[in-house]
Amino acid sequence: MIRFEQVTKRYPDGTTAVDDLSFEVAEGELVTLVGPSGCGKTTTMMMVNRLVEPTSGRVLVDGRDVAGVDPVALRRKIGYVIQQVGLFPHRTVLDNTATVPALLGWKKAAARARAAELLELVGLDPAVHGPRYPAQLSGGQRQRVGVARALAADPPVLLMDEPFGAVDPVVRERLQNEFLALQATVRKTVLLVTHDIEEAVRMGDRMAVYGEGRIEQFDTPATVLASPATPYVADFVGGDRALKRLAVTPVTAEDLDPLPDGAAPTGDPRSVPLGGSLKDALALLLQDDSGQLTVTGDDGRPLGTLTPAGVHRALRRSAA
Ligand SMILES: Nc1ncnc2c1ncn2[C@@H]1O[C@H](COP(=O)(O)OP(=O)(O)OP(=O)(O)O)[C@@H](O)[C@H]1O
Ligand SMILES: [Mg+2]
Repeated sequence: MIRFEQVTKRYPDGTTAVDDLSFEVAEGELVTLVGPSGCGKTTTMMMVNRLVEPTSGRVLVDGRDVAGVDPVALRRKIGYVIQQVGLFPHRTVLDNTATVPALLGWKKAAARARAAELLELVGLDPAVHGPRYPAQLSGGQRQRVGVARALAADPPVLLMDEPFGAVDPVVRERLQNEFLALQATVRKTVLLVTHDIEEAVRMGDRMAVYGEGRIEQFDTPATVLASPATPYVADFVGGDRALKRLAVTPVTAEDLDPLPDGAAPTGDPRSVPLGGSLKDALALLLQDDSGQLTVTGDDGRPLGTLTPAGVHRALRRSAA
């Protein structure tokens, strides 16, 4: 859906922001771009909607080189959540959310109705928050408005530049979860920029780890954590990468020990579903001394038990 072909961007002052970049984002996929400040993430994103033009190489959206697409028409199909949210301070939250539909020439009532629907989708009450100005919202609420505004015209592609950057870790995790739940239904093709490795791992179907102007590794979070491609990536993902992997590794049937003889515990509060994360399982395991958990299937029936040795096996297997 989005394809970079050997893209280089040199700014007029000689700064090479992005150097020979090639990667592809599939339809409905969420790819995170992660790396330190100044490594070229925003520049990459802005070449998709032509806010920045490549010096060489091509960017294709839906099979078409964007260089040949009218920027206005292009941006109608691409929602954009900018770094620092960027709401208009003198417009109400409802009107901010209706910006793109209004630009597209929708009737005012239709644009506002759509905006109200979107505010609800991101967990804001249009009656309460809609008439307010951005300064009258919390940081997390403003970021939700940014996401609602980007989704308002129902674009197939979404660019999000540090969309949850300006809030504390607790609110950030809530916004991330809400967005993942939303994405599970709207299935946009998403590029999400962050400098936070935890966010990149948690949100990405795949992730691009940037060094200076280059992608050092492009793969699933589980693979990046298990097998960093370069010493730089290993350093960037952190010495605790094995722990981070717990969050992206599911409990599978192979990791289980048989159920104890005769025992068929149902409704056991100390149980996790097959396919749940090892992180959740380990957190439960550590809560008492029994050293085992029941793992249940889709129908809630117990399938087997998970022990610390099983957690270890699962991590080893997923690294292989
Ligand atoms: N208009 C410009 N003219 C010259 N250099 C620029 C321009 N915009 C960005 N740069 C430089 O290009 C490099 C990449 O910038 P970019 O904004 O893409 O980084 P980033 O990865 O988004 O960083 P951050 O995490 O701080 O937002 C930086 O060295 C930056 O100083
Ligand atoms: Mg940036």
